[in-house]
Amino acid sequence: MSGLSYLTGFGNEFASEAVPGALPVGRNSPQQAPFGLYAEQLSGTAFTAPRSENRRSWLYRLRPTATHRPFEPLKETSRLATAPDPRAELTPNRLRWDPLPYPKEATDFVDGLTSYATNGDAHTGVGTGIHLFCATADMDRKAFFNADGEMLIVPQHGMLQVDTEFGRMELPPLHVGVIPRGVRFRIRLQDGKARGYVCENYGLPFRLPDLGPIGANGLANPRDFETPAAWFEDRDEPFEIVQKFQGALWRSELDHSPFDVAAWHGNLAPYRYDLSRFNTIGTVSFDHPDPSIFTVLTSPSAVAGTANCDFVIFPPRWMVAEDTFRPPWFHRNVMSEFMGLIHGAYDAKEGGFAPGGASLHNQMSGHGPDRASYDKAVVAALEPVKIEDTMAFMFESNLVFRTTAEALRLPGCQPDYDEAWAGFEKAKLP
Ligand SMILES: [Fe+2]
Repeated sequence: MSGLSYLTGFGNEFASEAVPGALPVGRNSPQQAPFGLYAEQLSGTAFTAPRSENRRSWLYRLRPTATHRPFEPLKETSRLATAPDPRAELTPNRLRWDPLPYPKEATDFVDGLTSYATNGDAHTGVGTGIHLFCATADMDRKAFFNADGEMLIVPQHGMLQVDTEFGRMELPPLHVGVIPRGVRFRIRLQDGKARGYVCENYGLPFRLPDLGPIGANGLANPRDFETPAAWFEDRDEPFEIVQKFQGALWRSELDHSPFDVAAWHGNLAPYRYDLSRFNTIGTVSFDHPDPSIFTVLTSPSAVAGTANCDFVIFPPRWMVAEDTFRPPWFHRNVMSEFMGLIHGAYDAKEGGFAPGGASLHNQMSGHGPDRASYDKAVVAALEPVKIEDTMAFMFESNLVFRTTAEALRLPGCQPDYDEAWAGFEKAKLP
């Protein structure tokens, strides 16, 4: 689909109307909203959150969201896990997975989610769920919303068209999209199938990281974030509404489309970001900065400077450091690292980490370049080199990722990942 329109900026007080005159002027909830629309507030933070943290929007819709019958538990089995996951199988071992194969049967985005790991506790609004999706069918008269957290969607293959209550956005690979907690959406597959990654964030909403001494510009610039302009459909047809609530899926039916918002304003809305617009900053002398220099979005924990989840990318970039081992060095991290690859190759691994695959290096596990990458890097001529055609990313959390039983039993869970670090000779002291 082309011709979709977007509002630019991050967390701005946006205002958008799909029908001229649908947006009340000067009032959020006038005695009579224009055209008999229903005014409805969607709160993403407590009413009393500090102004800098406060996120809410006002929606003007054909019918109130409240007009639905009771939700009933969805009977189908789901591979979707939520923290605390009673079936989680904790392991300190480093893990890596091949890409998930597409299912043979028709599977939509929601049914195509497979949880790999969770951490924290959705009940208390801490932590994340890490899922991969593999979809072969559109959602049509079906909408989903997640009461447990916002969803950061990272497409790896196939273009997604994401229809939301706020408007429609296209999400091709190398874009990421965020759907706020509670916002109804459906996903259609413009290429017939699509797969990718989802970070379900139970914690504080993602925001741009502080820039400190970098200054007022750099990394992901606010103007490059795009929020869909108001759009609605007036369809009096049966719709299935599925919600994730405290880990379980529930369903209800409407006799109309939930995408019936004719106008809205506020600072809580879906958005997308083109990763190719990331302003990548690195060393121009020696050594390499910590990967935090590649942070696109961060969900803070209660501890200053310590993320509930950072979304970090490894984009194309020039490598110019002198007298430096240029790939990521060996390290152990108090934070836990779940990585994915959108396309190309990651500069610390020669093989085994394929686009659509994943790896997990939990708290304090030693990792770094594999033997082949090491051998190449220690003798490389240190001319300026551009790493091109690559986009890896990391969900990094202050909480250990607890792998799901399903993820550990996937055929693509590589039993020999430790071999990546086999064969390093002992250093020779004089
Ligand atoms: Fe790492």
